[in-house]
Amino acid sequence: METRQRFIEMSALLGRTDSPEALERKVRVVAEIKRLKAERNAVILGHNYMETAILEFVSDYTGDSLELSRIAAGVGRDVIVFCGVEFMAETAKILSPASKVLIPARGAGCSLAESITADDVRTLRARFPGVPVVTYINTYADVKAETDICCTSGNAAAVVNSLKGDTVIFLPDEFLARNVARSTGRHVIFPSFDGERDDPELDFQMIGWKGRCEVHERYTAEQVREIRGRYPDVFILAHPECPPEVAEAVDFCGGTSAMIRVVRETRHPRYLLLTEAAMADYLAAEMPDKVFLRDRGIRCPHMEKITLENTLEALRLLRYEVTVPEEIRLRALRAVERMLRVG
Ligand code: 13P
Ligand code: SF4
Repeated sequence: METRQRFIEMSALLGRTDSPEALERKVRVVAEIKRLKAERNAVILGHNYMETAILEFVSDYTGDSLELSRIAAGVGRDVIVFCGVEFMAETAKILSPASKVLIPARGAGCSLAESITADDVRTLRARFPGVPVVTYINTYADVKAETDICCTSGNAAAVVNSLKGDTVIFLPDEFLARNVARSTGRHVIFPSFDGERDDPELDFQMIGWKGRCEVHERYTAEQVREIRGRYPDVFILAHPECPPEVAEAVDFCGGTSAMIRVVRETRHPRYLLLTEAAMADYLAAEMPDKVFLRDRGIRCPHMEKITLENTLEALRLLRYEVTVPEEIRLRALRAVERMLRVG
């Protein structure tokens, strides 16, 4: 595409936030990314939390964790550049071992993935023998390898409902567990490991873990009430990693792609997204006729490490490669593929 044409396209989307000089720089970076992508037989997968320029101008596919896993499974390219965080790139490697999987920045972790180890899962299994283990996709490969089935925000309730028996271990997000428990009509407990046993008579159907997303845990029901007081006509959407009081107080609670669909398909006087702030930037750029309140924006410190510039460096230098030991990959693959079969 002509440089001039790309500049016009970029200005239409980003002209309100970026200076002409910044746009010119981005045009050059995008052109170089496209050239290298073809040369390396590479594909770029962009998670919904990426900056608009990555999603609109260089990603071959965009989506939530579930959609990008499905794409990674069948993409068949020499190189996958994953514009997202490490557990997502690892999942792509688990599903597409023949591809070289790259992530553009080091240290793009996730507080949920850091909250639990493979040893923790083995301890839980020993304490609750025979109970199936569901893990959120926001975990590392060695944790996935210890579990029966994965889930994402987009299919968590369906995965839990797909299991035989009425009790599941659901790891590691405390709030997602509470939200799924509510939507599937289950009672959830969070066992302590300080030597005390839980009341054996207690009736429970879900066993959770106290991991939290460092972005979504910061939203409160009080903020929702305060915003509604100021803007009674606001339509509020939240991610299910938010506290349950928030999930209950908003108009829609769902994963990133579900939120995007709802915003695209509805027409409310104004919207507020209680999730990673880049998503509102992206939607505001795509739909300039809709009003997005921006006063609760929080960026994920891991997602924001990925930029257009380091995506170019990833392709140029073929860095940073994400690998998974084969023995772990094969066990993790079972849990991920079982999730993909749930639909
Ligand atoms: P989604 O699967 O909804 O895209 O969420 C991923 C994530 O990390 C949310 O914080
Ligand atoms: Fe992890 Fe939260 Fe960042 Fe998502 S937003 S990657 S759950 S820390």
